Amino acid sequence: MTEEIRLEDIKGVGPKIAEKLRQVGYDDPMTIAVSSPKELAAIAEIGELQAAKIINAVREMLKIGFETADKVLERKEKSLQITTGSKALDELLGGGVPTQEITEAFGAYGSGKTQLGFQLAVNVQLPIEQGGLERNCLFIDSEGTFSPHRIASIAKAKGLEPEKVLKNIYYARAYNSDHQILLVERAKDIIKEHNIGLIIVDSITSHFRADYVGRGLLAERQQKLNKHLHTLQKLADAFNLAVYITNQVMARPDVLFGDPTAPVGGHILGHISYYRVYLRKSKKNLRIARLIDAPNLPEREVVFKITENGIEDV
Ligand code: GTP
Ligand code: MG
Repeated sequence: MTEEIRLEDIKGVGPKIAEKLRQVGYDDPMTIAVSSPKELAAIAEIGELQAAKIINAVREMLKIGFETADKVLERKEKSLQITTGSKALDELLGGGVPTQEITEAFGAYGSGKTQLGFQLAVNVQLPIEQGGLERNCLFIDSEGTFSPHRIASIAKAKGLEPEKVLKNIYYARAYNSDHQILLVERAKDIIKEHNIGLIIVDSITSHFRADYVGRGLLAERQQKLNKHLHTLQKLADAFNLAVYITNQVMARPDVLFGDPTAPVGGHILGHISYYRVYLRKSKKNLRIARLIDAPNLPEREVVFKITENGIEDV
């Protein structure tokens, strides 16, 4: 969709402003495009009018703005789905984990977020008739819980050759939030070269939580996280691929009524993720999945199970 735009190529941005923007991390045109004149004016130390002109110039360059409804339809019609391995869970998501969107699983320890990721890393490689995309997976692991052994058994259960499946998963360990951001920003070449149909970030929030501790850093954390998600969304659009991210829940002992857990990242994640699935443990190997806030699908729950074979229907 968008090729690299240098800050200096933007009308109204001289070397001085460019340097200022780089210093504060506004080095990506999309970040400028989605910022407000007030915000940009403060950050680049320029007038609001000039800031508005720069934002408009970037939006023009990125061709952001209105598009006709038939174009939207055309784009959406190209959207594909990856099966989760459970028909019930697929139906909850309107057919599977969709391309061009970010799907977020949030839940407590052991609720199955990572297992679902492993399953999708395998399933994206399946033939289209079997619910796959016949494409490969990029796996960004921030928690060190990636397990090739587990993936191999899930692959075997699907009738695939484990070695082949593992060869098609491009793995990177993210060591901190900046590294995680960098891995996603540099992903474009790998995506093109290796026919990537699914990007997994497991988990999206843990490094951010560790790196920005304390209330004073909350705004900065949210801004960075927001930008990170925009980068993922751009890749999802540009390459018609699916993005699956996981998010831990934090206990909120102050909440007396309702669910005493809340997704880390709060509202920012809520606004970008299109599909948010809340996972929780039930009896034995059963898991309950609830779809939250999807604009075009009803909020409801389904049950699936985790077995030696991976994610399955009950
Ligand atoms: P955190 O990353 O700690 O927040 O948890 P998570 O939501 O990522 O949990 P994960 O997906 O790692 O789920 C772990 C659970 O999956 C285990 O507690 C098991 O119940 C189940 N599980 C994992 N591997 C196997 C397996 O080989 N067989 C079976 N039957 N269950 C498994
Ligand atoms: Mg996990």
